[in-house]
Amino acid sequence: MIKNKSLVSITDFTKDEILRIIELAADFEADPNQRLLEGRIIASLFFEPSTRTRLSFETAINRLGGRVIGFSDANATSTTKGETLKDTIKMVSNYAELIVMRHPLEGAARYASEQSRVPIVNAGDGANQHPSQTLLDMFSMHKTQGRLDNLKIAMVGDLKYGRTVHSLIQAMSHFSPTFYFVAPDELKMPNEYKDFLRAHGIPFEEHRDMNEVIDKVDILYMTRVQKERFSDLLEYQRVKDAYILHNSMLESTRPNLRILHPLPRVNEISTDVDSNPKAYYFKQAENGVYTRMAIIASILGVK
Ligand code: CP
Repeated sequence: MIKNKSLVSITDFTKDEILRIIELAADFEADPNQRLLEGRIIASLFFEPSTRTRLSFETAINRLGGRVIGFSDANATSTTKGETLKDTIKMVSNYAELIVMRHPLEGAARYASEQSRVPIVNAGDGANQHPSQTLLDMFSMHKTQGRLDNLKIAMVGDLKYGRTVHSLIQAMSHFSPTFYFVAPDELKMPNEYKDFLRAHGIPFEEHRDMNEVIDKVDILYMTRVQKERFSDLLEYQRVKDAYILHNSMLESTRPNLRILHPLPRVNEISTDVDSNPKAYYFKQAENGVYTRMAIIASILGVK
């Protein structure tokens, strides 16, 4: 049962709960003006920069008729005076019925959920998890492929620090996928996630060359090499241009292939791909509004 549940890690939701969110997201896409949250207040606390996640959560709340309090810049809050995350969360949970929070530290969302009187939705905690992104990715896969089962999914780029790919492999493990991980040695999928896949009997291959896999897959999930996660900028410079997708590389890909990217992109998808019908990343970002409406409505028990 999703009502009153925090969404800190995608593993907090069962397979049935994930499918319920996808079903509800489709319902909200068909009818996006359902004012189910009249008079209710939700907090949006972004300790780390965001465009899509914050704005799509806030759009979702507004579409549902709720009100948003919060901040998009922690430097404008009493955090700068030394107020702890614990005190901030304890206080905000007296103001709002649900807290959406992004934080640069891994584990911050779990910690917040332990301090809060109200549910926490993790909008990304460091390199750890981004579960609402995972749910919108799965909604996008379901819409474009007509199913979630038995998909062949390539993940390309920063698989080490990429919280979206970490959440996504855990959630997709319910649906018998085959994964193709494409990354330079410095940014390979961490062992804990590969061990998770082995334990669940999910096949995966590791590659260095994107061309070895793109003709075989249903989903090409591109990621940005995240400068903000590197402590050594020379290492970032070495790997930042490792993978760049050009339109010419898509010629012999499957007709059903769709290219996903959580965005923002830097240069890993050339703009000549944008007009290819297989490019789905901007529609994927729009799907975030319907998915986040579904998450909030489910947790607050109004749908
Ligand atoms: N996909 C994503 O998390 O984008 P933002 O960082 O802009 O929120």
